[in-house]
Amino acid sequence: MANYETHEHDVLVIGAGGAGLRAAIEASAQGVSVGLVCKSLLGKAHTVMAEGGLAAAMRNVDPQDGWETHFKDTMNGGQMLNNFRMPQLHAQEAPDRVRELEQWGAVFDRTKDGKILQRAFGGHTWKRLCHVGDRTGLEMIRTLQDRGVHQGIKVYMECTVASLIKDGDRISGAFGYYRADGKYVLFKAKAVVLATGGVGRAFSVTSNSWEYTADGQALAYDAGADLIDMEFVQFHPTGMVWPPGVRGILVTEGVRGEGGILRNSEGKRFMYDYLPESKKHEYAANDEEAKKWVDAAVAGVQSDARRPPELSTRDNVARAIYTEVKEGRGSPHGGVFLDISYMPADRVKKKLPSMYHQFKELADVDITAGPMEVGPTMHYIMGGIRVDAESQETRVPGLFAAGEVSGGMHGANRLGGNSLSDLIVFGRRAGLGAAEYVKALKDTELKIDQAQVDAAIAELEAPFNETDPTNPFDIQKELNTIMSTYVGIFRVKADMELAIQKLDELKVKAKKVGVKGNRVYNPGWHLCRDLRNMIISSEAIARSALSREESRGAHSRLDFPKMEPEWAKVNTSIYKAKDSDEMKLEHTPAPVMPEELKQLFVKKEPANA
Ligand code: FUM
Repeated sequence: MANYETHEHDVLVIGAGGAGLRAAIEASAQGVSVGLVCKSLLGKAHTVMAEGGLAAAMRNVDPQDGWETHFKDTMNGGQMLNNFRMPQLHAQEAPDRVRELEQWGAVFDRTKDGKILQRAFGGHTWKRLCHVGDRTGLEMIRTLQDRGVHQGIKVYMECTVASLIKDGDRISGAFGYYRADGKYVLFKAKAVVLATGGVGRAFSVTSNSWEYTADGQALAYDAGADLIDMEFVQFHPTGMVWPPGVRGILVTEGVRGEGGILRNSEGKRFMYDYLPESKKHEYAANDEEAKKWVDAAVAGVQSDARRPPELSTRDNVARAIYTEVKEGRGSPHGGVFLDISYMPADRVKKKLPSMYHQFKELADVDITAGPMEVGPTMHYIMGGIRVDAESQETRVPGLFAAGEVSGGMHGANRLGGNSLSDLIVFGRRAGLGAAEYVKALKDTELKIDQAQVDAAIAELEAPFNETDPTNPFDIQKELNTIMSTYVGIFRVKADMELAIQKLDELKVKAKKVGVKGNRVYNPGWHLCRDLRNMIISSEAIARSALSREESRGAHSRLDFPKMEPEWAKVNTSIYKAKDSDEMKLEHTPAPVMPEELKQLFVKKEPANA
């Protein structure tokens, strides 16, 4: 049997984006030993791709804001399917987490009087997104990384965890390999925090980077946790559409927050036509009012104008763009036009420096001189591992999860900017929860079951032993086509049934994936493991989507176009059968909001945000 190195920590955090780093910092601050595993290099997590900002009711620009309004916006954005306690904690704690980031060295953009500047984003009543130009995620990771390293957290870079190890019901460790040399590594740990992010690489057009292959979702599923609300997949309305090599790369909502206008090939500002009837009163009625709102935002003054229609929620804008293109009013490369070039060039470059360079360098487009072409791109999964809101513990003792890999916080649709703040609020809670769990175990000895380690190694070695192998890259392409074609923005029963059938066939083929060579520098071999994770999550998405017979948030069923009140009361829950590999699905009761929180929805907000 192959050799492996062994390390021991009280808490092992898997994933070094915002949630993982924040969890590791907190656990370490609680005095337990912490190991942090990054799939890529430290500082290169997908969080660095987050651009527009983090949402927190700091009240620096719009003093009318407060946690209650942030909570309500998040619940409304999530179409009331959120586990209410998570948006509540999130809205209450995000401002402190932002101030803490600032104390740790994050350099935010400033208001004229020196406070952290906040910008508008879709679905947020007030200007709420604390930002650093359009490089907020990068600044956040830089800050957390400095803090974590100085706190003495042990970091394992370019390392993929392939299996979790359990002692009876409890987590006792994890097994994986270093990506560069293929060497195996065993981590003994009393608690594990999963913070591995999303599943985007299962789709053909995505804003997600290569690390996003559903690792945490699959590790948790295999270990006995359940995945909730996996049908809710967010398509960000604006990704690049051209040239083909960069299709899907994020074009921040910050462009629209700074006044960017969406038009179709006929020059029509189409978003006015797509505002839901019940929300129309919250948005500008015409260009004149929208311009008044933008002018006031630029001048940093209050105004009674309502926000532009482009700042509708993401699910709605993505559907609108998709429909415009489908009905023949798209741009030459299959998107629509997003224009901010009417603003002074200096302002565009100052507010959106990354967008300026991204379009100049990747598409040879000067966004200060003309429009960008943009279209929907798979961006985020609202569903994920079910966790306890306070501690982030899953139903598997010793297993915690935070950030995109977990479910419940965002309901049926996430508001932009709520992800970065989610990472630091619930990353901290997961680190605290894991440290407290470890302390409560006292001197309990946890065993590493050698049979589980041997099984993990055998699974990892299998692709080298395949006599008639299928190519993992071909399987990923097929998976991407299935998910993007049949489980995309608009869904119908027959398509999803076909997706499930095709995924079943793909599972059989994927069992025979094989690669040549050895474990050193072998990306094909890495993909073999990632594929398994992506296929599990894709099946969970397709099965959950088929089961939810209504349209809610990001889940749009053409055959069930209405939102049904009864469906607000249930979460879809996916788990692995106890004695087989069969995927099970149940509808479980959603948490019920207490009366004092319900009362917040009775009070009307002013509509002039
Ligand atoms: O558009 C953006 O900048 C993305 C932000 C987010 O997903 O929260």
